[in-house]
Amino acid sequence: MTRRYDPVVNMRRDPAPSGDATDTGNAASTGEVGAMFDRIAHRYDRMNALISAFQEPRWRRRIVELARLQPGTAAVDVATGTGKVAEGLADRVGVFGRVVGVDVSTAMLELARRANIDRIELEFVVGDAMALPLDSEAFDAATIAFGMRNLPDYERGFAEMLRVLRPGGRVVCAETARPRSILGRLAWTWFERVVPLLGRLSGEPDAYRYLVASARAYPEPQRIAEMMARVGFEDVRWVGLTFGVVTIHTGRRPAEPAP
Ligand SMILES: C[S@@+](CC[C@H](N)C(=O)[O-])C[C@H]1O[C@@H](n2cnc3c(N)ncnc32)[C@H](O)[C@@H]1O
Repeated sequence: MTRRYDPVVNMRRDPAPSGDATDTGNAASTGEVGAMFDRIAHRYDRMNALISAFQEPRWRRRIVELARLQPGTAAVDVATGTGKVAEGLADRVGVFGRVVGVDVSTAMLELARRANIDRIELEFVVGDAMALPLDSEAFDAATIAFGMRNLPDYERGFAEMLRVLRPGGRVVCAETARPRSILGRLAWTWFERVVPLLGRLSGEPDAYRYLVASARAYPEPQRIAEMMARVGFEDVRWVGLTFGVVTIHTGRRPAEPAP
C-alpha cells in the first residue's frame, strides 16, 4: 500500500529544534527549521499578533521605512515567511519596482503567494538565506525580519545580503532582543512566560519553546553590528523598539570607490 505524504503527520514525528545557538549561529539545520515553520505556517500570523501584543504591524512599518526605497527600485526580503514585510516594501516600490521574498518554508510562501496573487511587482521564491538564489548587485535594499536568529551562520546571512545589494544599497535586520531597560525586562518576562503558554494552547509547544530559546540565544546588538561591519557593511547602526524588545540594525553596502 502506498502511503500518501501528509506533511502534518510526517512533521509531527520531528520535534522542533531546541533553539540553542553558538556565538556564530543557530545550532539547528536549515532543514529542521524549515520543517518547523511548514508545520506552524497556518497559525503563524495569528500567533504573531498575540505574541507581539499587536505591536508587529508597527515594527514592520519601521522596517519598511528604514529600507528607504523609492518608486521603481528593487528589494529582497529574506526569510519572508508569510510576506508581510515584502508587501510593505512592494507598496513603496510600486508597480514599476520589484520585490522578491525568499524563504525555505514552502508552506509559509504558499500563504504569502495566495495573499498577493494580483501584485505584479511582488514574487516569492524558495531559497536558503545561506546561498540566496539571486543575482549579485541586483537590489537597492535587503531586509530580514525575525529571520536572522534562525540561520546556522549569521555572518554568512549578512554576507549574502551584501552580495545581492547594489553598491550603496541598504540592509535592514529586525530581531527580537533581550532588552536592558527595566521596562524592557518586564516586557521580556512577559514574552518568556506568555509565549510558551500560547504555544501549549496552540498545540505546538515545541515550536514556541524554540522561539523563546532562539531569541534568548541571539547575540546582543553590539555583536551583531560587529558581524555586519566584518562582512563589509558601513554606517552600521541600531535602534530599539518597544523598550528594546525588538532591535533593528541598518547598514549600507559601500558605494563603488571613485575611479
Ligand atoms: C519568525 S519567521 C519570520 C517571517 C517574516 N519575516 C515575518 O516577519 O513574519 C522566520 C522565517 O525564516 C524562515 N527561515 C528560516 N531559516 C531560513 C533560511 N536558512 N533561509 C530562508 N528562510 C529561512 C522560516 O521558514 C520562517 O518563515
